[in-house]
Order: sequence, then C-alpha cells, then structure tokens
Amino acid sequence: MKQRVLFVCLGNICRSPAAEAMLRVLVEREGLSDRVEIDSAGTYGGHSGERSDPRMRRAAEARGIPMTHRARQVKEADFERFDMIIAMDDNNYETLFRLAPDRAAQQKIYRFREFLRHHPDWSYIPDPYYEGHEGFELVLDLLEDGCAALLEEIRRYI
Ligand code: 4NP
Repeated sequence: MKQRVLFVCLGNICRSPAAEAMLRVLVEREGLSDRVEIDSAGTYGGHSGERSDPRMRRAAEARGIPMTHRARQVKEADFERFDMIIAMDDNNYETLFRLAPDRAAQQKIYRFREFLRHHPDWSYIPDPYYEGHEGFELVLDLLEDGCAALLEEIRRYI
C-alpha cells in the first residue's frame, strides 16, 4: 500500500519543507519512492508560492538534502489525501485539529516529537525563522532523528 505523509509548520518555508526533503532523501536511498508520497504545507498562507527560506535551503543542502518545495497553505482536501499529517509544534497541531473535518481526520494528526528518539529535551521543532544559523542546524538535527524513526514506522504500512 502507498503511504502519504504531509508535514505541517507555520510558514511552510523552514521546518516542514526541510522535513519533506529529508524524508524524501531517506525514502529514495531505500528505493521506496513509489510507495511513499511526501509533501508539506503551512497553517499560515502568507508565504504561498515562495521557495523555502534561503538559510534553511543552504543548511539542508550542506547535508546533501536538496529543497525544491514551493510554499502552500494546508487545505481541507489534505485530510482526505494524506495518511499521516505531522505537526512541527503544538500550535500547528492545534490549528490542524481545529481544521480537521471529522474524527477520522483528527486521528491522522501527529506531533513530530512522537518520532524523536535521541532528543529527550525537545517536545517540538523550534521555529528557526527569527534565529541564527544554529537554529537551522538544530532543526536539521531534530529532523534527522525523527525522520529515521518515522521511516521505520512507515515501513509497517507499505
Ligand atoms: P516555518 O517558519 O513555520 O518553519 O516555515 C516560519 C516562517 C515564516 C514565519 C514564521 C515561521 N512568518 O511569520 O512569516
């Protein structure tokens, strides 16, 4: 079966497109591209159509993770299309929960922190938008940890 995963943050220019790109690299490396669909979106639509933040792109590309996503806002049809909708922080989670059309849709929503294995001090992926370089590196460290565990989880469904 095909598994469809949507990562969601606020602006869809930093955290969620980086998570999308990172999981895609892992999935491609394992030859699973035809069985896992990956996308990302933001709860806020103000950056729709934009490329990802150049600071995030630079940091990701330095780790071999190319980012090509164009920002878009999450929409109701996403709750139909995707099997897992993964929020980067509690605000994103609560916004998604309010937008979900029904209980089945609510049950598709996860917090990224559920997949962290090696970062017990982090209960969310911190917004790096107003941070320096270290903020982007921290996001990528957390995403590497969680995406590896997430892929193990996905393997059980495909
Ligand atoms: P993201 O970061 O949610 O990780 O994409 C942000 C990007 C833009 C804004 C906030 C967070 N903003 O307020 O424009």
